[in-house]
Amino acid sequence: MTTAKTQPKAKRTVRSHTCGELRKENLDQEVTLCGWVGKRRDHGGLVFIDLRDRYGISQIVFNPASVGSDAYLKEVFDRAGTLRSETVLWCRGKVRARPEGMANAKMATGAIEVICSDLEILSKAETPPFAIEEDVDVAETIRLKYRYLDLRRPNLQRNLLIRHRMLSIVRNHLDQNQFVEVETPILYKSTPEGARDFIVPSRLNPGTFYALPQSPQTLKQLLMVSGMDRYYQIARCFRDEDLRADRQPEFSQIDIEVSFLDEEAFFPILENMVSKLWKEILGVTIQTPFKKMRYAEAMSRYGSDKPDVRFGLELNDISDVFSKSQFQVFQGALASNSRGKSGGISAIVVGGQAEKFSRKDLDDLQAVGAQYGAKGLLWMKVQATGELQSPAAKFFTPEEIQALKAKLSLNPGDLVLCVADSKKKVVYDALGSIRLNVGAKLGMIPKHGEGDPAFLWVVNFPLLEFDDKENRYFACHHPFTAPRPEFFDDFIAGQNLEAIEASAYDLVLNGVEIGGGSLRIYRSDVQGAMFKLLGLTPEEAKEKFGFFLEALQYGTPPHGGIAFGVDRLAALLCGVGPIRDVMAFPKTQKGTCLMSESPSRVSPEQLAELGISVRS
Ligand code: AMO
Ligand code: AMP
Repeated sequence: MTTAKTQPKAKRTVRSHTCGELRKENLDQEVTLCGWVGKRRDHGGLVFIDLRDRYGISQIVFNPASVGSDAYLKEVFDRAGTLRSETVLWCRGKVRARPEGMANAKMATGAIEVICSDLEILSKAETPPFAIEEDVDVAETIRLKYRYLDLRRPNLQRNLLIRHRMLSIVRNHLDQNQFVEVETPILYKSTPEGARDFIVPSRLNPGTFYALPQSPQTLKQLLMVSGMDRYYQIARCFRDEDLRADRQPEFSQIDIEVSFLDEEAFFPILENMVSKLWKEILGVTIQTPFKKMRYAEAMSRYGSDKPDVRFGLELNDISDVFSKSQFQVFQGALASNSRGKSGGISAIVVGGQAEKFSRKDLDDLQAVGAQYGAKGLLWMKVQATGELQSPAAKFFTPEEIQALKAKLSLNPGDLVLCVADSKKKVVYDALGSIRLNVGAKLGMIPKHGEGDPAFLWVVNFPLLEFDDKENRYFACHHPFTAPRPEFFDDFIAGQNLEAIEASAYDLVLNGVEIGGGSLRIYRSDVQGAMFKLLGLTPEEAKEKFGFFLEALQYGTPPHGGIAFGVDRLAALLCGVGPIRDVMAFPKTQKGTCLMSESPSRVSPEQLAELGISVRS
């Protein structure tokens, strides 16, 4: 038996238990622990230290009087009262029950403490720029600069563990369903997903560039051509786009592709996967099958293709009430444009709470709508007398007011918020966002853990959307998405393009798009027709997608797939807002890493090797 005194020095870096492990069952055991020094309390000679590691916290008791003749130990024990936070310690000691009344029910190890008999400082620590605690009130820029310290905080560790757990449940589930994990290249060719590419110069092929994949879209489809049948990958994706709380330039997807399955057979596999996550991580049972809503309905009722259906405040189309309006704003919205399309007028009703909205509140909401191109926000308040108070009331006829009240079932105290525009999309986007703002202001949006999670498939997306600025069509999802069979003839004939619906679907949870996918085009000629509709000349199609069109000619199974946003899913499971909180090393809104200070300049030699010169 080795004792503390004879234990070889080299072993004084390993532990018998973790800091979260010890319980009453361990009483009187001699244990060794390693960890970081957290809170310290000095009680007249006796020093108590919280020793912390990933697994939890153990209370260590130092009694300088107990060390006997070991000079080194005596010195360190004397210094225990001044041990700096975040010092890394090894210690040996005996587990004992905390004295009567001193147990801490909030701590997993709160019933015990370790009476230290030996100690080694493994590594000293500078004073950290912020305290390593559950909640710290410190600018995020500081936390990101010292991310390795931030990640020591229990809540971020918990987030990373939940993320890990989530991915391991996903891997198991997909494995059980015959999915094969295949890695695909990062140095690849541009695959359009609607964002800008990050590009990487090739030294061996001067003047040429790889593009980092916005997703492994073409690669996973090629794996279907290969007969892989069921593929998945926890895939890194790179998109150079404007960043928001739920968007990072580099993020992960649970990327999935299958052959010979239709939506009816595919969705249950996905729903079961998501159900397992909620059950195993949060203990929540979710109802399957998930509800479905057509895109057109989502837009007209919620002003969003990712509706949060947990609360009302739905949009109402009031164009018919004002079809002959004298109000110029309404007239302009309903007039047909050069492409024969008219816009619309929609409104949300805030029942009985008009008095909660001051002029400033209404101005703020107008500013929200303006971000989406709305030229104004018309408000109307129903007075106790039944009269309508509104900046535009003078333009309305008594019949219009009557029809409006009937259509929206208005009562005294109601507030009506209305947006009119010559583009329906502006009306929907603006009111959709105003709806979320009003919902938040009135406390109508459930918090994490409150109520049932609202999963929703949004289906029947349009295949194409017309871009006025570029005067051409874009694929709403991506150019590999198939039109729904009933629209196939129109698609081939190139007619009624804007009415064509796609076999595309998004999975939405509580107003967050957590996944999106589609059934794919699997005929080379149809894929060629799609590229043509999107304005690619045969030469451009060949240059960008020649390899892909060629592959489709060698026997392609009908196939489809989906990708879930790992970061968004993890954020929802953890109950945090920004996806930064579930990423180990995220970037700022400006796409920078404050810790490593990247992106950064490279040496003239590196640039010369690549044949690149930087102008500014
Ligand atoms: P899509 O572009 O819809 O589809 O992306 C799928 C999911 O990825 C997440 N996501 C993001 N998460 C964080 N930061 C971003 N910048 C970001 N962009 C997207 C979202 C989204 O639902 N290849 C297709 C999938 C397919 O068709 O199978 C694709 O990438 O949660
Ligand atoms: P105006 O006649 O331009 O002063 O507008 C009268 C009211 O209509 C103001 O409250 C504006 O905010 C509102 N308004 C202006 N344009 C729009 C629009 N496109 N949709 C809804 N309300 C609007």
